[in-house]
Amino acid sequence: MHNKWYKDVVVYQIWARSFCDGNGDGIGDLYGVYDKLDYIKSLGVDMIWFSPIYPTPNCDYGYDISDYRNINPEFGDLEIFKKVLDGAHERGMKVIMDLVVNHTSTEHEWFKQSKKSDDNPYHDYYFWRKGRGKNGKNPPNNWLSMFEGGAWEYNEDLAEYYLHVFAVGQPDLNMDNPKVREEVKGILKFWLDMGVDGFREDVITFISKKEGLPNGFPLPVATGYKNYVNGPHTYEYLKEFKDDVLSKYDCFVVGESPMVNMQRALQYTTEGDGQVLQMMFSFDHMCADCFMIDYIPTPFSLRKMKKAFSNWQNTINGTGWNSLYIENHDHARIISRYGSEKYRTESGKTLAAMYMLQQGTPYIYQGQEIGMTNTHFNSIDECLDVATHNAYNIFRKFRFSEKFTMDKINKGTREHARTPVQWDDSENAGFSSGTPWFKVNENYKQINVADQENDENSLLNFYRKLIAFRKDNAVLMREGSYNELMKSSKKFYVYERILGDEKLLVVANFSEKPCTFKAPDGYDLSKGELVLYNYSDNKLENNSYTTRPYELRVYKF
Ligand code: GLC
Ligand code: CA
Repeated sequence: MHNKWYKDVVVYQIWARSFCDGNGDGIGDLYGVYDKLDYIKSLGVDMIWFSPIYPTPNCDYGYDISDYRNINPEFGDLEIFKKVLDGAHERGMKVIMDLVVNHTSTEHEWFKQSKKSDDNPYHDYYFWRKGRGKNGKNPPNNWLSMFEGGAWEYNEDLAEYYLHVFAVGQPDLNMDNPKVREEVKGILKFWLDMGVDGFREDVITFISKKEGLPNGFPLPVATGYKNYVNGPHTYEYLKEFKDDVLSKYDCFVVGESPMVNMQRALQYTTEGDGQVLQMMFSFDHMCADCFMIDYIPTPFSLRKMKKAFSNWQNTINGTGWNSLYIENHDHARIISRYGSEKYRTESGKTLAAMYMLQQGTPYIYQGQEIGMTNTHFNSIDECLDVATHNAYNIFRKFRFSEKFTMDKINKGTREHARTPVQWDDSENAGFSSGTPWFKVNENYKQINVADQENDENSLLNFYRKLIAFRKDNAVLMREGSYNELMKSSKKFYVYERILGDEKLLVVANFSEKPCTFKAPDGYDLSKGELVLYNYSDNKLENNSYTTRPYELRVYKF
């Protein structure tokens, strides 16, 4: 295996609006990030990924970009961005940007031009189509958007519809137009020349639409998705971005890839000339407590989660490279989902070690390192996210009760990840001296960074130990094989990482009740060194032990 730097890094994701407010207007910003660079570095991470920080009308909080070459004035300007970039680099941390090119904002200049007339040079930057039926008043096909009703929005002046797979304010770019691809390459160059180290590419598996935009099988949401997920030219366009731009820089690209299959993932990430992405974000393991989407909850299934992780490990390892994550800005908090709020610190540590010791590049989402949990939304009016409102509207349309609907929203909404980071127990959790743009979780007096800094056994300090462990064992982490044991267990997730004579045994228990763990064949636990754990006093009896709630033990041999 080659030793590529992206294989040894740990990434910290910032969703700036809720990270830290530096100028007291209630909105997180780059001044706040600048102030916290030492904190970020203190975790031991090597790279920051910024969710979009470009100008935006905020219909999808930055994932609707109105100018790709500037900074959202709510967050600062290019000057403070460069200070943050330099500050990160001085501390030995890289910085990657979010590249959102499946769609722009309707406020983007290209879109404003494109709707002026059919023969405007920008018209073909988007999918404008005539309607069907009498007077062309029916949308061009039956597609529904992911975020806001139908996938087509009518424009009176042009008497045409434009396509938006996400919100109405997020028109899809026509990537088949070579001019659009040139624009994308220009954006990549702009940031790389400024010194950024790579990109996280938003819904990159959606950028190529099937020719003719045929109807899809009717669904309550996202009808037609099969016509643009892993579309016909996706690989070709990614290859073009790589050959023409990315390969000329020492940079890194991770593709967000909803609904990608293994075969595609291998095609994209297999090392060598054909590689177009260093790694992808898969979604399978985020579905262990829901049916397909976060709003249809099912009881947490450890086996489902294990199967998803192992499937990706077994298929990708040794050929491409995995990304490892359990939280980001699109999902509810993991402790509230797969762990236990009652055993918050214990389950938080188990979850952390469980995913970060696998083979791949780990990502940590802001607040995850202190075990932030879900909040509660009393009514849909407290939610600001377009996707959450869409889910709410669909439930209500199908006549589910208000209470039933709000239960599902409270389970699944990504708003949980967007409450301000809890820095200390002062007003507004130390996030802002003004009025926060979004509600602070009421538990900030119990869960905050300042408290955990002072507690040797806090989750925060566990993350530091875990990251340091990865660094100290870099070769084993990077190259060691992954082998799952006790696959059918509903209580334990056990796997080993092996490289030559070195061996790591990860034993993560997911039960509140005592369980007996018996060492797997060939293991004498008394000969191993207990390197990571979440309880003191770790006894062994006859090569076995009885667990405490969410007990974690990692032995090194
Ligand atoms: C990605 C982003 C999500 C956004 C969507 C549309 O899934 O992670 O936050 O809403 O794409 O851009
Ligand atoms: Ca601010």
